[in-house]
Amino acid sequence: MSERKMITAALPYANGPVHIGHLAGVYIPADVYARFQRRLGKEVAFICGSDEHGIPITIRAKKEGVTPQNIVDKYHEVIRKSFMDLGISFDEYSRTTSKKHYEVSQDFFTTLYNKDKFTEEVSEQYFDEQAGEFLADRYIVGTCPNCGNDGAYGDQCEKCGSTLSPSELLKPKSMLSGNVPVLKETKNWYLPLNEYEDFLNEWIIEGHKDDWKPNVYGQVKSWLNDGLKPRAMTRDLNWGVPVPLPDADGKVLYVWFDAPIGYISFTQEWAEKNGKDWKDYWQNENSDLIHFIGKDNIVFHCIIFPAMMKAHGGYIMPTNVPAFEFLNLENDKISTSRNWAVWAHEYVEEFPGQQDVLRFTLLSSAPETKDNNFTWKDFQTKNNSELVGIFGNFINRVAVLIHKYYGGVVPQGDVNAPELEEIAKAANEIETFLENFEFRNALSSLMNLARFGNQFLQTEEPWKTIKDNPEKAAHSLFIAAQIAVGLAQTSEPFMPFSSEKLLKMFNVPQITWKEIASDKILIETGHQINTAELLFSRVEDETIEFQIRKLENTKESNKKTNPNANPMKDEIQFDDFTKIDLRTATILTAEKVEKADKLLKFTVDTGVDVRTVVSGIAESFTPEECIGKQVMILLNLAPRKIRGIESQGMLLLATKPDGKLTFMSPEAEVDNGIEVS
Ligand code: MF3
Ligand code: ZN
Repeated sequence: MSERKMITAALPYANGPVHIGHLAGVYIPADVYARFQRRLGKEVAFICGSDEHGIPITIRAKKEGVTPQNIVDKYHEVIRKSFMDLGISFDEYSRTTSKKHYEVSQDFFTTLYNKDKFTEEVSEQYFDEQAGEFLADRYIVGTCPNCGNDGAYGDQCEKCGSTLSPSELLKPKSMLSGNVPVLKETKNWYLPLNEYEDFLNEWIIEGHKDDWKPNVYGQVKSWLNDGLKPRAMTRDLNWGVPVPLPDADGKVLYVWFDAPIGYISFTQEWAEKNGKDWKDYWQNENSDLIHFIGKDNIVFHCIIFPAMMKAHGGYIMPTNVPAFEFLNLENDKISTSRNWAVWAHEYVEEFPGQQDVLRFTLLSSAPETKDNNFTWKDFQTKNNSELVGIFGNFINRVAVLIHKYYGGVVPQGDVNAPELEEIAKAANEIETFLENFEFRNALSSLMNLARFGNQFLQTEEPWKTIKDNPEKAAHSLFIAAQIAVGLAQTSEPFMPFSSEKLLKMFNVPQITWKEIASDKILIETGHQINTAELLFSRVEDETIEFQIRKLENTKESNKKTNPNANPMKDEIQFDDFTKIDLRTATILTAEKVEKADKLLKFTVDTGVDVRTVVSGIAESFTPEECIGKQVMILLNLAPRKIRGIESQGMLLLATKPDGKLTFMSPEAEVDNGIEVS
């Protein structure tokens, strides 16, 4: 067991506020762990900051019509404040646009470069000639080769979920200008991850079979089984840390290269301010490095960043990477774009002074081993029955009774009573669970101690024995006071605000974890306590209903009136529309195309001319049905040969619910060749 703990929490992208999914799956467990390690007396550095580079930021900026810097300035502040408000006890919360971070990440790159750890590769990347920029994968849209969705991105099709590379997209289009991008050669620096396979196999697959979480271990194993490929560590982009090489204009460090180095640069910032040596934490075998992350970050923290550190040399490897699964909200995936979330900063405003309730409820449904679900009903139940009904109720009764019978002075009791062992037992259990990253079990141990206290009071009934057996009543309340202070002490990692109030109430200082578990008396006979303060209050039905309605409203406003409708395509300008020449026309003749079941061949009077159009609609119409119909035609579509027949234009149709097609026809008869606009 190392004396030093280097604890990191995934750097949140500064492209939006944080929500309960982030809190439950990374920041609250990480904070519990960090607080607990401090109580164990370890030297802790708990480090985080905003991830301010990368495409999510530039996309958000584009959407809002502002600069990336505007976006990160705004959200860095929102995120930082909500972490503070919720008692996330970072030793440092910095940002990847800090000067120090630029230096440290550039130095890191230079070291790897000088040690010849990169390979240089020239590849063809899509380039937008009008915008004069290379296009990140996310900036290319086209048709998915797997499912035909024409809104697929260069890295992923959100409809069928397949991972893509931009070259696989059919009909690629730049999102910057709407133009067809061209392929252009560019040089980038790659980290040959394949060269680190042996090292990773030995270190993780052989070395951490038993102590890493199965979800993390399994994912790493499957990556390694599939084989690793070199990955570009630089990108052609104008937002990021510039590549520190002479021939690298317009290139920045890959965001997943610079962001994890943020852990190191922020530790350096913290060390400088606090008279510490950052190397004690990152380059010393006496330190444990622990990364708290969500499951989508596993490959970066277990493969890429370790390979980077290995390539650099001198760094310790993470001792553990406790990755969490995802939290759903009211049985639906949390989504920033659909606004289906409970936002940290809104919670803080709407539930003033109730940070611990959120910490408690999120911890008790933390997605430790599988995805989990948050519901407002559950939040209410947990608050009312556990925090108010058990924990708060016990503490309150103890304090009130001591004031009522003994003027607030702890009475005399048997210091060898067996019940006192429950406190050390709970503390030891919590320790074991937290060392294993079992936060829910640790929280149960805490609640079991509160439950035990409640039952103890219930069977002892000091309010009755006070009359004919005052000595017994005194003993009962002495023991109850020990348990209450035990709770005040052990609840701190989980519910720091309540713990602080409790310690004040019992007028005792915070002690170390070892002292809690040492069978020592936690509050002496004769000790004066302060007046009882209410810790938790009931969450009423109206509060819950309000929150549920608020969520449902976002759903209403997002709701499609037709669930089958595809999402809207990218916005176009009026000029784009005027390029399309839509006209009214009349079908003069129609016949089947030989050996093609689906095709009909038409001659149509377009007002401008009489022309031939071939259309794949034979399963919906007989030729006879079509003749004489007035229809709409896309006149200026480039001619195309279909089965040897040149089709000049396209008739407009829509699919009916039964799957058959219907012509888009003018409601009243009009002349042919009239423009539709
Ligand atoms: N911003 C990333 C995300 O939200 C996490 C970055 S973690 C770091 O998924 F290691 F890169 F810093
Ligand atoms: Zn697809």
